[in-house]
Amino acid sequence: MVDYQPFLSVHVPDDSVEVVQNSYSSPIDGDRSPVIRRRSVKEILIVFSGLLMVALLVAIIGGKEPNFHADTNGSLASSRPRPEILRPAVSRGVSEGVSEKTNRLNSAGDNVQEFPWNNSMLSWQRTAYHFQPENNWMNDPNGPLFYKGWYHFFYQFNPNGAVWGDIVWGHAVSTDLIHWIHLPLAMIADQWYDINGVWSGSATIVSDDKVVMLYTGLTNESVQVQNLAYPADPSDPLLIKWVKYSGNPVLFPPSGIDSQDFRDPTTAWLTSEKKWRIIIGSKVNETGISFVYDTEDFKTYKPLKGVLHGVPGTGMWECVDFFPVSLIENVGLDTSENGLGLKHVVKASLDEDRHDYYAFGTYDERSGKWVPDHPEIDVGIGLRYDYGIFYASKTFYDQAKKRRVLWGWISESDSESADMKKGWASLQSIPRTLLFDNKTGTHLLQWPVEETESLRLSSKEFDKVLVKPGSVVPLDVGTATQLDIIAEFELDEKALEEVYESNEEFSCSSSGGAAQRGALGPFGILVLADDSRSEQTPVYFYVSKGSDGYLKTFFCTDQSRSSVATDVNKQIYGSFVPVIQDEKLSVRILVDHSIVESFAQGGRTCITSRVYPTKAIYGAARVFLFNNATETNVTASLKIWQMNSAFIHPYQNENHIDSSIKLSNNLVISILFFFLLFFFL
Ligand SMILES: *[C@@H]1O[C@H](CO)[C@@H](O)[C@H](O)[C@H]1NC(C)=O
Ligand SMILES: *[C@@H]1O[C@H](CO)[C@@H](O)[C@H](O)[C@H]1NC(C)=O
Ligand SMILES: *[C@@H]1O[C@H](CO)[C@@H](O)[C@H](O)[C@H]1NC(C)=O
Ligand SMILES: *[C@@H]1O[C@H](CO)[C@@H](O)[C@H](O)[C@H]1NC(C)=O
Ligand SMILES: *[C@@H]1O[C@H](CO)[C@@H](O)[C@H](O)[C@H]1NC(C)=O
Ligand SMILES: *[C@@H]1O[C@H](CO)[C@@H](O)[C@H](O)[C@H]1NC(C)=O
Ligand SMILES: *[C@@H]1O[C@H](CO)[C@@H](O)[C@H](O)[C@H]1NC(C)=O
Repeated sequence: MVDYQPFLSVHVPDDSVEVVQNSYSSPIDGDRSPVIRRRSVKEILIVFSGLLMVALLVAIIGGKEPNFHADTNGSLASSRPRPEILRPAVSRGVSEGVSEKTNRLNSAGDNVQEFPWNNSMLSWQRTAYHFQPENNWMNDPNGPLFYKGWYHFFYQFNPNGAVWGDIVWGHAVSTDLIHWIHLPLAMIADQWYDINGVWSGSATIVSDDKVVMLYTGLTNESVQVQNLAYPADPSDPLLIKWVKYSGNPVLFPPSGIDSQDFRDPTTAWLTSEKKWRIIIGSKVNETGISFVYDTEDFKTYKPLKGVLHGVPGTGMWECVDFFPVSLIENVGLDTSENGLGLKHVVKASLDEDRHDYYAFGTYDERSGKWVPDHPEIDVGIGLRYDYGIFYASKTFYDQAKKRRVLWGWISESDSESADMKKGWASLQSIPRTLLFDNKTGTHLLQWPVEETESLRLSSKEFDKVLVKPGSVVPLDVGTATQLDIIAEFELDEKALEEVYESNEEFSCSSSGGAAQRGALGPFGILVLADDSRSEQTPVYFYVSKGSDGYLKTFFCTDQSRSSVATDVNKQIYGSFVPVIQDEKLSVRILVDHSIVESFAQGGRTCITSRVYPTKAIYGAARVFLFNNATETNVTASLKIWQMNSAFIHPYQNENHIDSSIKLSNNLVISILFFFLLFFFL
C-alpha cells in the first residue's frame, strides 16, 4: 500500500488499513471487458435462458414496477397488506453516545395503525434527483470537497440495513453536484479507535494535491476520539482509497468532558501564524460549546484556552460548522479568509431538538473566540437553516466556483417498518449555495446550486393568475412529481391597507395550517395533491397585521393532509420570513417524489418536508394555487419546470449501461439475451 508521505510524514506500518471494499471493481484499473466474455457460450445461453424466463415473469407480473428491495425475510413477496399495530420505535444512537437516530413519529403517539403500504406506493417514494445511496440507511454528510475536477461527497452509512447502526463512510463523486456516481466505501470500522463506528468528519484541502480528513471514531470502549485519514493516492482524482493514520487517535475527550460528548471535527482553517485551526462540538452540563485546537501537522494538537463559543441551555452541539461570509461580494469565501468585509457564521446541530441553528458574529483570531452580533438570536436560540426536517449539515468552500455550499441530512418521517420494507432511509438536501443577505443583514440566503437548473425540462408559465378568497385553481402541468416551481404573489394594496383584523399570535405550527382562514392568508401552492385533494401539501404565506399597523409575513408547509396514511409525521412547519419593502412574496419549490424543499424570499427562510402520499403519486400528482385569506385577492405568477432524473448510479455500471438511460435490470438482461441469441443462432 502506498504511503504518500510528502505532507504528513506519517509512518504507516503493516497493521494500518487499506480501507477498501472488494466488491467493487476499481475504476482505476479500468477493466472495461464485460464479465460475460470470460464465460463459455453454452454457459451464457443457459444462464441467459434462465434469466430471460425470470425477467419475463417479473415483467409480466410486476408490470412497470421499479426494482424493489425486499427486507431480509422477503416479506414483500406476499403483498397482501395486513394492518398491524406498530411497536414504539427502538431508540437508536443514544445508547451508543450519539444523537437519537430513530425516526420517531413525533406527532402520532406510540400505537399507530400501520398503513397498508404496497409496493408501488413505497417505490414511488424514492427520489429522482436527490442524493441517496442505492439502498440502506444514510445520515450525516461528511467531508465534502472539490478535488481535481470532482466534487466528493461522503456520508454516514449503514451497509447492513435501513436503520441506523454499523456506521461507515459511503462515498460518491460528481462533476456538477447533481449527477453522482457511487464509489466503494471510503472507510470501514476496522480499528480499535473506530470499531464501534466511523462517525462524522470534515475534509481540509491543505494544498492543491494534499487532502486530510478528520473524523470521529467510537472506540472499542465507546469513547469518542478524533482520527486522521488521508488519500492513499493523491494523484487519483476519485480519491478511492483512504489510509488511516497509524498514530490514531489524534485527540481524546478533554478532562471533565464526558467520553460521549466530543465529536464531529470541522474543516481546518489557517491562522495568521500559518497554523491550522479546528473546532469540535461538546457540552458542559446543558451548555453547548465548541472546543478550539491548533495544529501544524494534523497529528498533534494544542487546545486553546476556553471555547470558541457556548450557549447555555442548548445542550450537546453536534456537527459544528464555522465559516466566513462576504458582506460586500456575491461570492463564497475560503474557510481561512479573515479581515474586513466579512462576518463569521457559527452553526450547531442541537442534539436535543434535532435542528440546525446559525448566527453571525465576529471572530477574534488571537483569542480564538467568536462573539455573536445579536446575543438574543445566538446559536441554538435564533435562526435555523431550515424550519422543516434538515439536520447535521455541513458546508464546504467550492474553490472552482467560488461559492460556499451547504449539505443537510434529510431523514425519513414515516415509520421505521416502512423504511425497512422499502430498503432505504434518508436523503441529502439539494446542495445549497450560501450568501449573506445584505438586505436584511440578519439572514443567510440559501439557494439550490445553479447546476440544479440543468435538470429542467419543459416548462409552463402562468401569468398573473387571480386567486379569489377561499378558492383553489388547478395548474395544468401534467404529472407533478418532479418539479422546480418559481412563484410570486401579490396581495391587493387596498386590502393590505384596510384590513383591521390582526393576528399577532400567529405561528405556523399552532395556527391551524392552511385550513385556518385569516384576513391576509394563508395562500400559496398545493403540491403532491390528487384531483380530489384528498391528499395535498400546502406551501404558503400568511401575512399578519399587528396593532401597530405593521405587516409580518410567515412561511409555512402544512403536512397535516399530505397523506391519508396515519403512520407518518404530519407536523406543520414554518417561521417568520423578512420581506423588504417593495419586494414581492416569492418562493421556489423543488418537488422530488417524497421530498419538498421550499425557499422563500430568495432563501431567507427555508422548509424541507418529507411527505408520503398514497394517492397523489405517479400520474395522479397535481399542483394547485390556493387562497384561504378572507379579505384579499391574490395574484400569482409562476414558472414550473418538469425535472429530469439525475440517474445516480454505481461506478461499475459505467461500462455496461449507458448512464443516460435508466432501464430496469430486467429489461437490460432481456435485451442482452436477445442480442446474444441473435448472435449465436
Ligand atoms: C426475520 O426473520 C428473523 C429470523 O427468522 C426474525 O428473527 C425476524 O423477526 C424477522 N423479521 C421480520 C421483519 O419479520
Ligand atoms: C397499491 O394500492 C393502491 C391503492 O389501494 C392500488 O391502486 C395499487 O394498484 C396497488 N398497487 C399494487 C402493486 O398492489
Ligand atoms: C481497546 O483497544 C485498546 C488498544 O488496542 C486496548 O489497549 C484495550 O485493551 C481495548 N479495550 C477493550 C475493552 O478491549
Ligand atoms: C455542572 O453542574 C454541576 C451540578 O449542578 C455543578 O456542580 C458544576 O459546577 C457544573 N459545571 C460547570 C462547568 O458549570
Ligand atoms: C448586496 O449584495 C449584492 C449581491 O448579492 C451586491 O450586488 C450589492 O452590491 C450588495 N450591496 C451592498 C450594499 O453591499
Ligand atoms: C381553506 O379553508 C377551508 C376552511 O377551513 C378548508 O376546508 C380548506 O381545506 C382550506 N383549503 C386548503 C387548501 O387548505
Ligand atoms: C377580487 O377580484 C375580483 C375581480 O377583480 C373582484 O370582483 C373582487 O371584489 C375582489 N375581491 C377582493 C376581496 O378584493
